[in-house]
Amino acid sequence: MFFKAALVFSLLASSFAHPAPKAKRGVLSVQDYSEFQVSDGPAGNALARVNEKFPIDQTNFANVDAEDLAILKAARKTAEAAETKAGGFNEAIRAAGGTNTEAGKALQCGKIANKVLKLQLQVMILQIEAARGKNTTAKLAQQQTKLAKNVQLDQEAAAEGLTCTSVNFQGTSQP
Ligand SMILES: *[C@@H]1O[C@H](CO)[C@@H](O)[C@H](O)[C@H]1NC(C)=O
Repeated sequence: MFFKAALVFSLLASSFAHPAPKAKRGVLSVQDYSEFQVSDGPAGNALARVNEKFPIDQTNFANVDAEDLAILKAARKTAEAAETKAGGFNEAIRAAGGTNTEAGKALQCGKIANKVLKLQLQVMILQIEAARGKNTTAKLAQQQTKLAKNVQLDQEAAAEGLTCTSVNFQGTSQP
């Protein structure tokens, strides 16, 4: 009897002393914008490049790690800032004399790819949140429409043979 109780106690004690190691399920790591941006090079591959750079399991959104979700959110915020904030695409396009100059056209192409980055991140975030029980239906549909439009613009730029230019924007996917 005493022996049994002691055994149970020692098992309990050891389970407290050595909690099962928490398996790291996340697949993403924090990166600089320069590493996860998709705006340089030939147009037409933006969506595929986003999915390559953020390889969460899109067949099982419920299983995406909380840390990965936080990284996606931070990356989305930085991608948006890379469009509108100082050092971003809008400023660079203005400085290049608008979207009709050679440099401006390449930057506009990069801006579209950056929109694909921002919107695909947002769509993934909303799908993960939906899998966690949040009703994101309306916002998801809205963002998917915007994404489809920009994927199409990226493909049209590819059909024109455009090579896109990125901006040297300072930011990270650090939550
Ligand atoms: C989710 O929200 C939409 C409107 O945003 C609504 O039409 C729909 O009924 C909601 N679904 C659930 C399951 O609550």
